[in-house]
Amino acid sequence: MSRTGVTLTRFIGETEADGAADFADLLGHIGLAGKLVARDLRRAGLIDILGVTGETNVQGEAVKKLDTLANDNLIKVFQHSGLVCAIGSEEMEKPLYLPDNLPRGRYMLLFDPLDGSSNTDVNMPMGTIFSILRYNGKAGAPSDADLIRRGTEQVAAGYIMYGSSTILVFTSGQGVHGFTLEPSIGEYLLSHHAIKMPAKGSVYAANEGNYHKWDAGARQFVDYLKQADKPSGRPYSARYSGCLAADVHRLLLGGGIYLYPAEKDKPQGKLRLLYEANPLAMVVEQAGGRASTGTEDILKVAATTLHQRVPLWIGSREDVSKAESFIQGAQ
Ligand code: AHG
Ligand code: MN
Ligand code: MN
Repeated sequence: MSRTGVTLTRFIGETEADGAADFADLLGHIGLAGKLVARDLRRAGLIDILGVTGETNVQGEAVKKLDTLANDNLIKVFQHSGLVCAIGSEEMEKPLYLPDNLPRGRYMLLFDPLDGSSNTDVNMPMGTIFSILRYNGKAGAPSDADLIRRGTEQVAAGYIMYGSSTILVFTSGQGVHGFTLEPSIGEYLLSHHAIKMPAKGSVYAANEGNYHKWDAGARQFVDYLKQADKPSGRPYSARYSGCLAADVHRLLLGGGIYLYPAEKDKPQGKLRLLYEANPLAMVVEQAGGRASTGTEDILKVAATTLHQRVPLWIGSREDVSKAESFIQGAQ
């Protein structure tokens, strides 16, 4: 049967297990928040143009404003939804546990509301990354111990990427599916069904400006990628957008590896475990890829704090395994 015209809502209704009406609703609400963020991002250029006419700091302020706006959009959509009982965000120091006077649902949501927000000023891609857990505890609000969990406990995860089009990619453990926002009707339509990433790619994404802060293994791996003696006869191509969600999206469709390694002064790297690394790791693993700290699978990393950081190596499984062999000194 042709899948043309399958909406996100219909797809989830048809593919998720019985009793998952609230899950379909949850994904629908994430889609709605994504539409609100996409709407705000489309205005960012106008704000910047106004700022450039007289203000020097306006670009920095605009970026901050959009981080906050994106976070506010997600909170507004979810706090009265009756679908979640806890929300953790990059933009909020502490989790929001829904109080007794708001309806609580059984899901817990973690997100990076605007990923790659330095791209706002230059019209480049951005994303929203989300991780969904289920609260199985007793009635009432959950606690940090319920929310701050290993990646293996996610029930669903994904991202929305705001690029030349807006695309919502998610997994609930039954493959990875992408839905492109059709702007004329405001609906997400199935555009990428059951995404499987190549076992090996020919692209790497890294902020190589940090090369001299990396460990020897990371440096040697990237040196290796640049050598031309591959079976293809060509070195890997470098593609780095400054937006993790966008870089992972490229890898998901075309293969390769993204790395944000440990650095001399940042032994845990830069990226956050709970709302950047874990959700993207679940997506990539569901598509046949891998995500690692260099020594351990991301999804197995013990979570201790909401904003904890982790070195990240993510992408095609053979590329990530090759990177691990360099990091672990086997090369
Ligand atoms: P955020 O905008 O949510 O802070 O995330 C930015 C992240 C990630 O998206 C990107 O790959 C990386 O940080 C960029 O960092 P550098 O500027 O250090 O390369
Ligand atoms: Mn981010
Ligand atoms: Mn962010």
